[in-house]
Amino acid sequence: MSTAELPDRPAMDLAEITATRAQTDTAVSASRGGRIEVNDVTASYHGRPAVTDVDIVFDPGQVTALIGPSGCGKTTLLRCLNGLHMTVPGASVTGQVLLDDVHIYENDVDLVQVRRYVGMVFQRPNPFPTMSIADNVTAGLRFGSRKQREGVKLSEVAERSLRQAGLWEEVKDRLDKPGASLSGGQQQRLCIARSLAVQPQVLLMDEPCSALDPVSTLVIEGLIDNLKKDYTVVIVTHNMQQAARVSDVTAFFTVKGPGQPGQLVEVSPTKELFSNPTQQETVEYITGKVG
Ligand SMILES: Nc1ncnc2c1ncn2[C@@H]1O[C@H](COP(=O)(O)OP(=O)(O)O)[C@@H](O)[C@H]1O
Ligand SMILES: [Mg+2]
Repeated sequence: MSTAELPDRPAMDLAEITATRAQTDTAVSASRGGRIEVNDVTASYHGRPAVTDVDIVFDPGQVTALIGPSGCGKTTLLRCLNGLHMTVPGASVTGQVLLDDVHIYENDVDLVQVRRYVGMVFQRPNPFPTMSIADNVTAGLRFGSRKQREGVKLSEVAERSLRQAGLWEEVKDRLDKPGASLSGGQQQRLCIARSLAVQPQVLLMDEPCSALDPVSTLVIEGLIDNLKKDYTVVIVTHNMQQAARVSDVTAFFTVKGPGQPGQLVEVSPTKELFSNPTQQETVEYITGKVG
């Protein structure tokens, strides 16, 4: 799909991501952006690797699930995809994360801008509790640069984002009520709307349903299925049924023991990974023998 078919979204201006780059016009992606390529990435805390030697590609229009036992580095890898990992004191990363053609860990890349293109939703819904529903959605724009705010009508952004997040009908008559007045599942969709408001290309979700009841979980899963046509979606889940339901591609990670770094074992189309895994470690995990 070309960006021309996405009228409400500007073509990604990759140049904006690089703080001091000269070649501002060459980096604009004509095709739909949001492809992430991870080459030989090792992420560490205080010099101790948490996940090592990862090679994987995340394609637009697809949902990729990251699965594996606790401590295998799923969250760490996810946070490497938008540079959030680097905000942790003592954290480091080697290897390449390419967002389209931008190597996000090069010195001149502004990771704050990267996060505009690569949004994130966390395990626990984290709306600003006293801020209104509408203001929660547009918070990223109001705190953004003047350039980002120029010509933007916040009420339109709020409606568009809430519609995309499947929440509009439930909240359209109470937009001025606080974020905390919503149920847990609604709060998580509010956080998804907040991520979408800044028009990212990629949506990262770290166990977005782990704090939700089964009905709210299914609502979010349905939403993910809708969103994938317009975004690259990467979801961490500890729930294999969820990975099977929502993802097109699944990446299985494992960790040999406490203090050992996690590793990517296998990445395959989801149906294949669950029906015909190529690695013994994957077989043991999905049949419940380990993890
Ligand atoms: N902020 C941190 N400081 C130090 N070590 C961390 C930090 N966050 C995670 N780790 C370590 O990194 C490894 C991977 O953790 P994590 O990415 O959270 O795994 P998962 O999401 O698969 O459970 C674990 O050994 C964990 O203890
Ligand atoms: Mg985690």
